[in-house]
Parts: sequence; C-alpha cells; structure tokens
Amino acid sequence: MFDEPAIHRRLDDIAEQISNDYRERELTVIAVLHGSLLFVADLLRRIPHPLKLECLSVASYHGKTQTSGEVIFKEVTVPDVVGRDVLILDDILDSGHTLAAIRERLETAKPRSIRVCVLLSKKKQRAREVNADYVGFEIEDEFVVGYGLDFRERYRNLPYIGVLRKELLEQPGK
Ligand code: IMP
Ligand code: MG
Repeated sequence: MFDEPAIHRRLDDIAEQISNDYRERELTVIAVLHGSLLFVADLLRRIPHPLKLECLSVASYHGKTQTSGEVIFKEVTVPDVVGRDVLILDDILDSGHTLAAIRERLETAKPRSIRVCVLLSKKKQRAREVNADYVGFEIEDEFVVGYGLDFRERYRNLPYIGVLRKELLEQPGK
C-alpha cells in the first residue's frame, strides 16, 4: 500500500507542519505503544525543536481484528502532563475507542492543549468520534500490517505498509 520512500516523504510533510505549529511551545509527545514505535522514531527525528517523549501502553484487540471496545491501560502511571502541550501519536485510527479513551484520560491531568497525530486513518463510521489533527494517510477499511502495525504481534518490522491477505486473517492460531 505504502512503500518506505512514500512513508518517509509523508513524514517530512507532517513533521514540518508539527514543527511550525509548535515553534513557540515545547511539546510533550505521548507515543501509544507498540504500534506507533517505528512511526514515532522516524517522525521525531524530523522535528528540530526541544520536546519530551512519554509512552503509554493500552490494549483493546486481544488478537482479533475487530475492536472489543474495552480499552485496558497496561501501565498504571499515566504521564504527568499538567500545563503541557500534548501530542498523542498512534499508528492507526480505526473504531476510535483507543484514542478517545486515551484523550479522555489525559484530559483529566489538565494539560494546556491536546492534539492527535496518526499515521493512518480508516475511512469508516467510527464507534467513537476522534478528531485527528495530523493524518499521514487516509485508507479504506482494510486490515493493514507493517511499519509498526501487527497482526497477532507479527509483521511490525516490515519497512512498508501492506494489506494482510484475507486467508491469513481467517486462520486460527497464535
Ligand atoms: P481503535 O481503538 O479501533 O481505533 O483501534 C486502534 C488500535 O487497533 C490501533 O492502535 C492498532 O493497534 C489496532 N488496529 C486497528 N486497525 C488495525 C489494522 O488495520 N492493522 C493493525 N492494527 C490495527
Ligand atoms: Mg495491534
């Protein structure tokens, strides 16, 4: 779907937008693990301003390709973001459950501002509406893997993003 040069070209654009928007204010980036790992590493190296980086780990999929709607916070310590300008970075916006829950949770910590940046956004009706301020690519409602995105924890290390073959999706297994 997107090869490495295409991803990197798009990261150049988003990093420039973010750098311009936060010229005067120090960012606190919250990376949503594990899916955003590669994206975060490549994006942040393109932002030449001082910033802080925190990570948050949540789960909602439990090995299926449909979201369960229940978002579990695996790390109890939510980063301290009081008075900070927060940018949440995630791999993909699908049903919206994950980002809506993270945003809600961080808002209780009274940051100065919160914005959301996703590499991919699926064109679909969402269970929860989430406004993504920066979007790498809009994609159809297909299950994709690579560049951090997994199917049952595999394929994250692919340098490109591709659609998982339907027959693999339907196979039972771990
Ligand atoms: P949401 O809560 O349904 O928006 O899902 C968000 C999370 O589900 C993402 O952070 C991914 O980890 C995972 N996810 C959703 N769609 C895909 C996909 O097409 N491929 C791989 N992971 C996905
Ligand atoms: Mg996943």
